[in-house]
Amino acid sequence: MAARGAFSNRLGFILAAAGSAVGLGNIWKFPFEVGLGGGAAFVGMYLLFCFLLCFPVMVTEVAIGRKTQKNAIGAFNSLGFKKWNFIGKLGIFCGILILSFYNVIAGWAFGYFFEMAVGNFSISQNFGVYTSNVLKVGAYAVVFMLFTAFFVSKGVSGGIERLAKILMPSLIFMIFCLVGYALTLPNAFEGIKFYLVPDLSEITMSTVGGALRQAFFSLSLGMGALITYGSYLSKSDNIVSSAAFITLADVGIAFIAGLMIFPLVAFNNGGDMSLVQSSQAGPALIFVTLPGVFETLGAGLGAFVGAFFFLLLSFAALTSTVSLLEVPVSYVVDEWKLDRKVAVGAVALLIFIIGLPSMLANGASGFFSGSFTMPGGSTDFLSLAALSADTLLLFGGFFIVTFAAYVWKKENLHEELAEGFDGYHASFVKTFIDFAISYVCPVLLAILFVLVFLNNFFGINLL
Ligand code: TRP
Repeated sequence: MAARGAFSNRLGFILAAAGSAVGLGNIWKFPFEVGLGGGAAFVGMYLLFCFLLCFPVMVTEVAIGRKTQKNAIGAFNSLGFKKWNFIGKLGIFCGILILSFYNVIAGWAFGYFFEMAVGNFSISQNFGVYTSNVLKVGAYAVVFMLFTAFFVSKGVSGGIERLAKILMPSLIFMIFCLVGYALTLPNAFEGIKFYLVPDLSEITMSTVGGALRQAFFSLSLGMGALITYGSYLSKSDNIVSSAAFITLADVGIAFIAGLMIFPLVAFNNGGDMSLVQSSQAGPALIFVTLPGVFETLGAGLGAFVGAFFFLLLSFAALTSTVSLLEVPVSYVVDEWKLDRKVAVGAVALLIFIIGLPSMLANGASGFFSGSFTMPGGSTDFLSLAALSADTLLLFGGFFIVTFAAYVWKKENLHEELAEGFDGYHASFVKTFIDFAISYVCPVLLAILFVLVFLNNFFGINLL
């Protein structure tokens, strides 16, 4: 056990897992998905999915990891169900795919910090020029991957834990300050209305799918990241309450990121919220709208606040990229008995190369920037990679709960959850988890996966 590394205590695990969950998904992706999804109705579905469907999946992943003390593939072998290790294989593939494009965007964020810190305050006015400058964003992506590799090579407790302890609270504090500022701006209320007052006519198959995909992505579920982190967790820790905390922290941070962004959008557009529905607004929201507001603070203060914000965003992304790289690395270390440092170097290099098309997908190459035909129109490589990965997470999530409930058997899951949780067997939460993993999650995830898949990739709308 010691040779694999372990978290020094429960707080270490919680912070690392929450660090994995909280990232670009909350601050960059969530607001623009809400925008594209039409606002508050999307937010409502997202919250419902997080607590009803995702929380039980999270508990299950962590339990499988802690029970077996193995990586995402080894865990299934170790339980005696080798046939089911396809879930882990799929997860590792998915993690590699996610990290390949995630690293590109994390590089953008880190680049923003750097540019603003050295005085290039107006970087956001030329966002398109910036993302199509391959040498520049390529260099930032290299640096970001090196940071990630550095922390993963140090192992779970040395690197990830210590980082998360300082930086997560700082980020939350800063977002709160920005929410406070945003709410004082003219037209802020229009933004809040869009964000919090649901318009039920906005609910379509693609919003339902978007909310579900976002919930899985944001909570880092469905690919064994939490099996891997759970494998470093000690037997005396309470899985259920840890998972509850992680879910609340992740959802809470996404929620306040929305409170920060939408008033700013309303402010920038004189109260007109239609901008967030155009796909143009998507990825640019955090990289154009938000810095635009920093500019109103004036060059000195604005550049300082901007640089600091993007520094913290980069750290949030880093605790997520670390968890993404940890999944394939822990597999290679456990099963191929490779030295951790060698494994990290090789896997990081491979993922960086796979990420090259995503790097070219925002202006640098016409081909990668828009020639992929999808039902909603043509799209770029990065968006396609992200959509495919998200969809795979749902698939993985379905199989993880179904496996736990019917193959491994739920009695074994409950037994694992009861370790470190006195009174689990008599608790209401046990009844909820039991019902959720036996019926609600498998049934709804199967149905929704099929609907989402047909809708996203073939434009077929069964609802
Ligand atoms: N949840 C992270 C975010 O919101 C991204 C992430 C990290 C992730 N590890 C993951 C997503 C594992 C899915 C699976 O930014």
